[in-house]
Amino acid sequence: MRLRREDPIEVKSPAQLAIMREAGLVTAAALQAAAAAVEPGISTAELDDIAERAIRSAGALPSFQGYHGYPATICTSINDEVVHGIPDAARVLSAGDIISIDCGAIVGGWHGDSALTIRVGQVQAGGAPHAAPYREDELDGLLRACERALWHGLAQAAPGRRLTDISHAVEQAVRAAGRYGIVREYTGHGIGSKMHMEPAVPNYGRAGRGPVLTAGMALAIEPMLVLGGRQTRQLDDGWTVVTADGSWAAHFEHTVAITDDGPFVLTAEDGGPSGLADLLAGSPVVLAESPGRTGQAVLARGAVPDAQLVSAVSEGAAPTGAAMQPRTRGAVGGRDGI
Ligand code: MF3
Ligand code: CO
Repeated sequence: MRLRREDPIEVKSPAQLAIMREAGLVTAAALQAAAAAVEPGISTAELDDIAERAIRSAGALPSFQGYHGYPATICTSINDEVVHGIPDAARVLSAGDIISIDCGAIVGGWHGDSALTIRVGQVQAGGAPHAAPYREDELDGLLRACERALWHGLAQAAPGRRLTDISHAVEQAVRAAGRYGIVREYTGHGIGSKMHMEPAVPNYGRAGRGPVLTAGMALAIEPMLVLGGRQTRQLDDGWTVVTADGSWAAHFEHTVAITDDGPFVLTAEDGGPSGLADLLAGSPVVLAESPGRTGQAVLARGAVPDAQLVSAVSEGAAPTGAAMQPRTRGAVGGRDGI
């Protein structure tokens, strides 16, 4: 993505973050539905239908559709495709493939964005199911390293940290996991009233630089790792990004809110505690309704199950109208790109 440097970072109110949590949960459910359908023989267009139905049946909107002309609900990127692969009825999955599915949903004007990469099918006893250039354990290592690096980045999404503390944590985790390439041409991003906002979130770099993170900011962190060289190119379809050397790639992404109690992973079903458990000290952060502030969802530590928050919001507790506007209006309307 390409962003205007001078755009400020949007800071959300607790009530706005509560709506982003809804968008995150819809995104997560749609992504899980599509991922659960992955098997040899299914087309990527069928996966797209499944995700779109999950989003629309929740009363939400698919954020990718029409974004700079993008024609689908999800991105499906197979093997050497890194990101932004377009679902296609003629593109059928084979055992031994790996597929990244990237999904975004909008609830009440607020965005969620999340991606994962999984293997397709089971490898037959006695060898690979097709002429895949990689062993199962190499692919598992790539996928694990990428997901693990994402969680290391998410763990840094706390007030007082600097932006590149996230970048550095992602890179360090990758380096610790093995000799993987980190794609540099694409980054994570701020997210909220738009899918792509300031700041860009690189997946490498020195710690301690960039803006100081404060409660109310939200970021999409999305490492892209490759088994070979980190250079990429875009296909003639104007979207699909592939590795220059044909090596296979993994991509994981979550949307995280920075809260006074630390990272709240809006696109993780449990808000993050299970993924962050061994990376963060202290108890999990849970979105909760504040006693004494009727209808105002606030961020609290371990108070109520998330389902209660969602029902509080959908029962009309969340503010509408002026309160739905981001606090930093200047961020809206900035030129963005991907
Ligand atoms: N999650 C993707 C990203 O941040 C969004 C896909 S781009 C779209 O790059 F155009 F397909 F929406
Ligand atoms: Co994204």
